[in-house]
Amino acid sequence: MNPEGNLKQRGQWSSRFGFVLAAAGSAIGLGNIWRFPYVAGENGGGAFLFLYLICILLLGLPVMIAELTIGRHSGKNPVGAFEAIRPGSPWKIIGYLGVITGVCILSYYSVLAGYTVGYIGKSIAGNLSSYESFTSNAMISLPLFAAFIALTCFVVQGGVRNGIEKWARILMPVLFVLMIILIIRSVTLEGAGRGLSFYLKPDFSKITGKTFNAALGQAFFSLSLGMGAMITYGSYIKKDDNLVISGTFVAFFDTLIAIMAGLLIFPAIFAMNMDPTEGTGLVFKVLPEIFRLIPGGTIVGAFFFILLSIAALTSTISLLEVVTAYLVDEKHWLRSKTVWIVGGITFVVGLPSLLSQEGMVPWLADLPLVHTSFLGLMDWIFGNVMLGVGAFFIAIFVGWVWKNGDSTKEILSGFPGFGRIAPVFYFLLKYICPILILVVLFFLIKSGA
Ligand code: TRP
Repeated sequence: MNPEGNLKQRGQWSSRFGFVLAAAGSAIGLGNIWRFPYVAGENGGGAFLFLYLICILLLGLPVMIAELTIGRHSGKNPVGAFEAIRPGSPWKIIGYLGVITGVCILSYYSVLAGYTVGYIGKSIAGNLSSYESFTSNAMISLPLFAAFIALTCFVVQGGVRNGIEKWARILMPVLFVLMIILIIRSVTLEGAGRGLSFYLKPDFSKITGKTFNAALGQAFFSLSLGMGAMITYGSYIKKDDNLVISGTFVAFFDTLIAIMAGLLIFPAIFAMNMDPTEGTGLVFKVLPEIFRLIPGGTIVGAFFFILLSIAALTSTISLLEVVTAYLVDEKHWLRSKTVWIVGGITFVVGLPSLLSQEGMVPWLADLPLVHTSFLGLMDWIFGNVMLGVGAFFIAIFVGWVWKNGDSTKEILSGFPGFGRIAPVFYFLLKYICPILILVVLFFLIKSGA
């Protein structure tokens, strides 16, 4: 009620359920519903799904628990957290990198989120003009982009319990129910079976280094790992909550929604004889056509894009919260002022991404040397490489630098039985995570954007 008066006191989730919903809201977003299907489509469907699930289990889950542990132990934002555990050491650089990565992901993510909102109107209006004509019309895409950032600022301004948690509580269950309805429609389309077998029957001959890169990057992006979002969300968890169970719930729901997104999209694509390797435009280009051709498509399409906008909002909230928590905790800025300043900066950083989309500024759409759009480059650097770098150092930090005794004590509070699985947890963090991430980053950088 009195946010200014509460400034010194940090917020807390009201319950474990509240945390799981908010963190699942962060994890579930365009990453699951837009990015997962197109990446899976490009990388062989079932074979990709198989590797993705392995990456979630072996790397995603341990790094998720590591981030939550750092967050709850320190009760701080990523910069403050590393500083609290290892004062005066260079480890806080990982925190700064996370804060910067957050703003950069937020910038292009909001461009796509703006399209998503625009597509609600496009579906209702039955407007069939192409993706390109939509993205190249700055009169539409620019205000939508700005409005989406403003909406995010508005929610984050409300703080932990009144803002983030309250919204997640309402929005996440709605999302789940909407998806179930759409899946039922999709799998009952004629010809859906081929889509199901493309998606669910792995063809192991399709697994290459590239598939593995894609699966690992998608796992971190989708779980919101590698930049301290889960450190920040962990800092609002109560001491008697079970971090392992909460983290596992979040990973479970996120993975469930990604799997469901595939069930929604692939049967429809095959039923329509469309191409699963369409690329980043998959959702925006193919789905409106599909909705147009099925009975009740206007409503189904509008529902789908409402759902995608909701999912995007609960994710942008977490991206903005990391930077906000840093400035409020460490620089003692007012929350209400911070969100709008950061929102303004994000808008400026996002402009080149917006202008790099089809039909706008040609040289931004196809940058020299890298031959990708500015938005594609941002996603590659911040949504892929930086998250891998961040996750690598977080695994090293909890596995090797921070005394295992101290992190174990933090997890034991709320989970007395942790001792039994601790050896597996530390083995994954010390060896499996760093080694696999290094191998994948090496290939990622070698093969370029
Ligand atoms: N995980 C979100 C999605 O799947 C995106 C996201 C939100 C994110 N916060 C993040 C990605 C932090 C990486 C880091 O859409």
